[in-house]
Amino acid sequence: MTDFLQLYGRYRDIIDRHLAEVIDRDEPVTMYEPARYVLSGGGKRIRPVLVMLSCQAVGGDPMDAVDAGVAVEILHNFTLVHDDIMDRADTRRGRQTVHKKWDENIAILVGDELMGIAYKKLLNTEKGDVRKLTRVFTEGVIEVCEGQSYDKEFEALPSVTEEQYLMMIAKKTGWLVAISAEMGAIIGGADEVKSAALLEYARCIGRAFQIQDDLLDVVAEEDKLGKPIGGDIIEGKKTFLLTSALNRAEGEALELLQSVATHTAEEHDLVARVTRAYEQLGILDLARTRIEQDTHDALEALERLDDNEGRRMLQWFARMLLERKH
Ligand code: IPE
Ligand code: IPE
Ligand code: MG
Ligand code: MG
Ligand code: MG
Repeated sequence: MTDFLQLYGRYRDIIDRHLAEVIDRDEPVTMYEPARYVLSGGGKRIRPVLVMLSCQAVGGDPMDAVDAGVAVEILHNFTLVHDDIMDRADTRRGRQTVHKKWDENIAILVGDELMGIAYKKLLNTEKGDVRKLTRVFTEGVIEVCEGQSYDKEFEALPSVTEEQYLMMIAKKTGWLVAISAEMGAIIGGADEVKSAALLEYARCIGRAFQIQDDLLDVVAEEDKLGKPIGGDIIEGKKTFLLTSALNRAEGEALELLQSVATHTAEEHDLVARVTRAYEQLGILDLARTRIEQDTHDALEALERLDDNEGRRMLQWFARMLLERKH
């Protein structure tokens, strides 16, 4: 029987080895030192592993998908560097963020550089239609930027609808997860039915992934999460939790949540008070139910693929994400 955790570890190690070699220059030091810092910072590597597994699940060789996987991971890391400036986050993966350790100019430039390196890596892909791959990848860049733009726009609004929230997370987070599966399918030579099934799977786990990221902001242990608890509350982010809570709350709880949403909250003990309100309103359970539902839908989409080790691994992967603590 396949040990899925071990296989995930093996794929992650392959990605990490490639990431360690991707920067082949040292100067200017102010560029390449922080760039190396970012890429060596750990991370779950879920997107590149998904590229490899998707390729495998449609009958391809996962090793053919490594360059494309590394490209998606570098793109993801670029978005994190800029996201941390936008979200005023001082810590990520248990370490100082780039704009804190160095400064904002360096963080902006490192992000730009990483995007270039990502394309360079993508173009090394030998299997599959590289034009098609590049088109999908580029659409990913554009969608993530749009999503991040909505995320910031929503910060300034007193509330958003669930539909607006879902649209925003499909872009800022779901899209890169989706293109990971799509690129794996292209490299593996999947037919339309299989590509569509993988895309559906990835859309579902991508949605679950961001709702869980929102949930972890409140319920995780800080040293496991690697970023401070309650950052979304402090920033008045229109997360799944805040958006749903605003719909359910009344009286004092509603006033508290509205003050978070409009950045007028009294700061003392804020994260604890809001967390209590979420608990009392049943919002944390609501989020858990949604994550489970999306995971269930993801698994259902996989039924349309042939049974093989890649598909079994994708099934395990969706369940593993459900239990993640960071
Ligand atoms: C964090 O992504 C940003 C989101 C899209 C929620 P990950 O949780 O995949 O971050 P790393 O790469 O594992 O650190
Ligand atoms: C991240 O969303 C989305 C992108 C980086 C594109 P978040 O802002 O919620 O991610 P974290 O919580 O900082 O990792
Ligand atoms: Mg953000
Ligand atoms: Mg953030
Ligand atoms: Mg978050």
